Amino acid sequence: MSSRALNPSRREFARVFAAGGSAALFALRPHAWAEGAVAAAPVAADEKYWTAIRDGFVMPPGYACLNAANLCPSPARVLDSYFDSTRSVDRDPSPQNRQKTRDGREGARRALAAALRATPEEVVITRNTSESNNFVSSGLDLKSGDEVVIFADNHPSNHNAWRQKAERCGFTVRIVQHASPHPGAEHYIEAFKRELTPRTRVVALTHVTASVGDLMPVREICALAREHGALSIVDGAQSFGVLDIDLSDMKPDFFTGSAHKWPCGPKECGLLYVNARVHHRIKPSIVSLYPGEVGISRTMEAFGQRDEPAIVGFGEALALQAQIGRPAIETRARELAQMLMEGLKPIEGVTIWTHRDPGRSAGIVSFQPGSLDIRKLHQALYERDRIACATRGGTDRPGIRFSPHFYNLHSDVDRAIAAVRRYIKQGL
Ligand SMILES: Cc1ncc(COP(=O)(O)O)c(C=O)c1O
Repeated sequence: MSSRALNPSRREFARVFAAGGSAALFALRPHAWAEGAVAAAPVAADEKYWTAIRDGFVMPPGYACLNAANLCPSPARVLDSYFDSTRSVDRDPSPQNRQKTRDGREGARRALAAALRATPEEVVITRNTSESNNFVSSGLDLKSGDEVVIFADNHPSNHNAWRQKAERCGFTVRIVQHASPHPGAEHYIEAFKRELTPRTRVVALTHVTASVGDLMPVREICALAREHGALSIVDGAQSFGVLDIDLSDMKPDFFTGSAHKWPCGPKECGLLYVNARVHHRIKPSIVSLYPGEVGISRTMEAFGQRDEPAIVGFGEALALQAQIGRPAIETRARELAQMLMEGLKPIEGVTIWTHRDPGRSAGIVSFQPGSLDIRKLHQALYERDRIACATRGGTDRPGIRFSPHFYNLHSDVDRAIAAVRRYIKQGL
């Protein structure tokens, strides 16, 4: 079914999207499926602008998805691109017709490079962040005597993966502990410095943590790694698609992300950036046919047959974000996160784990809702209030995680705060 049939507000969305359009962006698109370009967010974009953006998604009215850190919805325009491309391939699976989607894959690579201030030659399109992180830990030549420094609050794909491979290959893993609340950039720069030794080969950390949204001083830590002759990998699963990322300034050796999180692209597409200076250091974990056409993708992206229409959709999602404006998207997500923290803070019993300083956090807000049962609250928010979010179990900063994005409205945030306040007051 076309997403057209799913989205009653499409006409309004098309109106906002009809303005503007850049030759450069259209050049990235392999097909004429894409509708008009979206108008860039005005400097002081108001709720009217963001409501029109929200209407371009197929989520029903009144449903608040505050779960971007887990999985984002794709807007109708991305779904159309994906569906149309899939239909085209299935209508005519000839190599000649499929050349269009192959071209689209290269267009998506260029869009990725533009989004990251990198070059297409440095971009590998993978399945997700997990795969990208594992391509790095499996693709480097590490042996007994070598050391890898990892951050304690990394995702398992950048934490357990290193520990398992250390067991197999004989290298050692050293761990920089996290501190809560976020103690500031200097604390972490010093903490990483203390763990670096002449044997350090890799430093693996996270740009924004999934747990509570701690923003790490990645630029400084990548520089530290470089000074020590070590490689750096930055997991950008919680920053790519929401923060306005400039890899030419951050200078990691590897950077990873997922299309299906903050970029709002199709599921099972991801990114591995490999800095041109280290192309010779990494070997492919998968060797098959149909590689990418430029740079490192020629060796690192030969995965055999794949879902190229999804990659085309990934390019479309990136084009949409570029048209809205990445700085505007970052400002919007940060504004909503700050609103959430401001509204949750005065509620008696609530402990907010996320730091309010914009230098220490971005778009994720985690908090403990007093003594309420977290799972029951999560379910009540979903069933009674139509609010999707995430839980965080265990003993380390347990609670609820809200992660708003550019498709959310002030009314979503207000409803979420009011619901938490109500459940804490009245019980579940
Ligand atoms: C920091 C971080 N890294 C990696 C991942 C894995 O992402 P994916 O499931 O898309 O591979 C996640 C998922 O939440 C994450 O938060």
